[in-house]
Amino acid sequence: MKRTRTRVKEIIAKELVDCDVTVMGWIRSLRNSKNFSFMAINDGSCQSNFQVVLDASLENYSVVSALLAGSAVSATGKLVRSNGKGQQIEMQASEVEVIGIADQNYPLQKKATSLEFLRENAHLRCRTNTFGAVFRVRNALAFATHKFFQERGFYYLNTPIITASDCEGAGELFQVTTLDLERVKNEGVDYSKDYYGKRSYLTVSGQLEAETYAMGMGQVYTFGPTFRAENSNTSRHLSEFWMVEPEVAFADLEEIASLASDYLKYLIGEALTTCPEEMEFLQKTYKEDLLTTLTHVRDSEFVKITYTEAINILSSSKKKFDYPVSFGLDLQTEHERYLTEEHFHTPVIVTDYPKEIKAFYMKQNSDGKTVRAMDILVPGIGEIIGGSQRECDLEKLTKKIESMGQNPQDYWWYLDLRRYGSAPHAGFGLGFERAVMYITGMNNIRDVVPYPRYPKSAEF
Ligand code: 4AD
Ligand code: MG
Repeated sequence: MKRTRTRVKEIIAKELVDCDVTVMGWIRSLRNSKNFSFMAINDGSCQSNFQVVLDASLENYSVVSALLAGSAVSATGKLVRSNGKGQQIEMQASEVEVIGIADQNYPLQKKATSLEFLRENAHLRCRTNTFGAVFRVRNALAFATHKFFQERGFYYLNTPIITASDCEGAGELFQVTTLDLERVKNEGVDYSKDYYGKRSYLTVSGQLEAETYAMGMGQVYTFGPTFRAENSNTSRHLSEFWMVEPEVAFADLEEIASLASDYLKYLIGEALTTCPEEMEFLQKTYKEDLLTTLTHVRDSEFVKITYTEAINILSSSKKKFDYPVSFGLDLQTEHERYLTEEHFHTPVIVTDYPKEIKAFYMKQNSDGKTVRAMDILVPGIGEIIGGSQRECDLEKLTKKIESMGQNPQDYWWYLDLRRYGSAPHAGFGLGFERAVMYITGMNNIRDVVPYPRYPKSAEF
């Protein structure tokens, strides 16, 4: 007879007792005493393990009481209130079926395993408390992202993953080609013979396409994978990461900055209310002030300063930086972290950066030096959001593209937005993994994405 599964989360939430159910999951631990055993299983539905009490009178007691951690089982029996500490409800098993055994080679047989070790076993790590928590919170944040934007009348837009343009102009592109590299070596490259008839890449951002849809549908957001071939082996960079990019027509920088801080606060609020057990676990295990800090950030105004003010704060600080501070400096993580961690102790919105260090599409200020850019910096990470008001003046934008040594013709469709019904518009990009890091308190971005991609690493 095929049994229906009841998820542990449901048993706890509905406080199911005095009824018979079947639970299926993986053994986390097994403790034998004289006439019975306690089996802790986890079915992935929630942080809590579920205790199954095995009586020695069970038909296959000798088999199930000898199972090792990692084995998959199906346990059927009566739910009762538990006297033991650690759980409210447990099961008195009447039948336990062994679905798949794990032997002593199961890599997670030992309880304490380092995050590095688990990274090498990324295919199994969601079976630990830490990664169960991280990925349930990640799921909640993805759902919250859609809720936030849908509640505000935004349309979800899927921008292309293969593109011919370099949105950020940083040249950190993965090329996409069907050309035979061996033949190219001898015959030279002819991109007209390539699949798309021109050079093409994996996208670094969906922004340019999102702009075209905002300038017709009013307000849209993307939420998809982006790729950067930067050689950054840090705890904050991935070469494949997910970005959330809202774009709003008729909006200016102020409007988009407050949308960005509302969104970040909303994410925090949703994590705290929908994943309390996970958040408490993460606080206990990784960051002792996680909940108070996040609650404080959720409930307070973000500090807003201009880049020029940031430079003044940094240069009048006593701190020695690796990169010397002066106007024109591209803020490095050390500067971003000083501002948020040591000076303001809270997230900071920095606006109006020098035009030389920002992307070509940003609206030029009348001072001739700065652009209407906005970054949100948070303690522990630095930049989590980058955005701007877009240049909507055809002539200024064309000149800017030319000054980068590029051909405006290649941007014809992007420039069309400035030819036909041009209007102020603005948007930002939130690095989804950086947000997950910030909210879970995890220190390494490789631990908040299922299978991290970074230089020399694309296992799994
Ligand atoms: O600041 P960035 O480069 O901005 C853009 O791509 C704009 N087109 C966004 C927009 O205005 N629509 O990237 C946005 C965010 C950063 O603030 C950071 O959080 C994240 O993306 N990010 C990365 N996250 C992980 N690994 C990397 N290599 C990242 N590069 C950027
Ligand atoms: Mg940026």
